[in-house]
Amino acid sequence: MNQNLPTIDPEICTGCGACLSICPDRILAADTLGKALVNGDSCMQCGHCYAVCPVEAVSVPFLDQPEDLGSVKIESKGRPAEPLSPFGLLELMRQRRSCRLYLEETVDRVVLDDLVRAAVTAPSGTNSQGWKFIILPAREQVIKLGEVTADFYRRLNRKASSLALRSLLRLTGNNALQTYYENYFETVKKALDEWDSAGKDRLFHGAPAAIVVAADRASSCPGEDALLASQNILLMAEALGLGSCLIGYVVEAARRDASINRLLGLDKRYRVYSVIALGQPAVKFMRPAGRKPLKPEIVNTV
Ligand SMILES: Cc1cc2nc3c(=O)[nH]c(=O)nc-3n(C[C@H](O)[C@H](O)[C@H](O)COP(=O)(O)O)c2cc1C
Repeated sequence: MNQNLPTIDPEICTGCGACLSICPDRILAADTLGKALVNGDSCMQCGHCYAVCPVEAVSVPFLDQPEDLGSVKIESKGRPAEPLSPFGLLELMRQRRSCRLYLEETVDRVVLDDLVRAAVTAPSGTNSQGWKFIILPAREQVIKLGEVTADFYRRLNRKASSLALRSLLRLTGNNALQTYYENYFETVKKALDEWDSAGKDRLFHGAPAAIVVAADRASSCPGEDALLASQNILLMAEALGLGSCLIGYVVEAARRDASINRLLGLDKRYRVYSVIALGQPAVKFMRPAGRKPLKPEIVNTV
């Protein structure tokens, strides 16, 4: 029996056809009695057949069952859980702000695991789920990642400070170093100076924990998958009372410097798409700050 395919118990199946109509890979059919059977092997393992079956005739042994959160006691086990009201969801989204002030308190490992549980409920291209989460549960590990990142930016700033090199690269049509010089050089220099002279952490903002989200480059949409999972982490962190902040500077460094992947134990197959600082917030936002005015464009001609 192919362990990567769903199985259907003909004794239980009532032949309602729900699984047949929902299967995105069209690998389910009805036998002569109208009961469902598997007649293909190109299954993307989405588990929709299992989820839709009213009598639990479908088994998907290749999928883990969703687990409860480790950090939050669920009083009533009645399923399905109450969905968040649209207002509640919007409030959660609005209240999530980037946190740049953290308490020293460590974040429970159970909570960090819960964030990953929330992450993997995200959709992924062709259900590839090619993401990888690296948890940095201790401040020392966050600092180590910060130091390797700082080394990268020290080297980059050394290069960028050379007018000759910037000019030479521009002559060859490569403006990247000049653009970096104009937009980031001073900020990075100041941050490095503050780190070296006063131990001020302008990169991770003193966060006691972090999660790195990487994805398998061979997945169909690794970037999208990783970022959708990252947004889940940000929202779940907010729901659990944690502060969070995406740290794009590390992502950029990881893209150009293999020593970050090495530090994280990631082989070349994986690319880092987001790094999320986490911790108990040392600041409470009293209200959301709003966004720049924006009107969506409506297409009214086809
Ligand atoms: C891709 C990305 C990278 C980011 N990188 C950083 C970063 O390196 N450091 C930082 O303090 N904030 C970073 N942020 C946070 C943004 O500055 C923040 O989301 C934005 O100012 C809006 O504020 P809000 O998150 O509080 O709504 C990043 C955000 C995104 C989406």
